[in-house]
Amino acid sequence: MKYLLDQFVDDVGRAIEKYGITVEMQWSLGAKLQKLVQEGGDLTSQGVESVGSTGLSGRILHEDPKGRFRLIVAQFPSGEPTPIHAHNRWGLECGWSGRERFTVYRRIDDASDNSNAKLEIFSDHHIERGDLGYWYDSPRNIHRQWAEGNQPSCVVILMGGDGGRDGIFDIDQGTFEPS
Ligand SMILES: [Fe+2]
Repeated sequence: MKYLLDQFVDDVGRAIEKYGITVEMQWSLGAKLQKLVQEGGDLTSQGVESVGSTGLSGRILHEDPKGRFRLIVAQFPSGEPTPIHAHNRWGLECGWSGRERFTVYRRIDDASDNSNAKLEIFSDHHIERGDLGYWYDSPRNIHRQWAEGNQPSCVVILMGGDGGRDGIFDIDQGTFEPS
């Protein structure tokens, strides 16, 4: 039997109930998200169409009625990094197509002064089809991504909460602009 979207959504709810919002919860879902990408049919035609933060089309696959998580498909253009942005909650993603550079940062100052924000790289790697990337609740909730090569990257993203952004960092100026 194939592993489909509804089953993954059920498993996310179960994992949150079992582990709470923890890295164990996130890690327990990584292999399941990979399985969904492998077996779940064409995820780029399921759910409802949306336009992502990049302006490229995506899908909303599921929104948890309890507001605990959201599952989407998003595309990122080649050679155009997103701003370094913070999400208000955790997330993980699995590659669908293309080759994505995925860099996660940790904020190392005490966040009391947004004109003097300091980041360090927490993880930095590539995501191709079936590969996983994670970010976590604050302070490891900051990342950017973009596609390398000549096609956009397309990824399936499980985002904690409503998937919203907290704001944007300017790493050269050392500033954080809350949204
Ligand atoms: Fe993001």
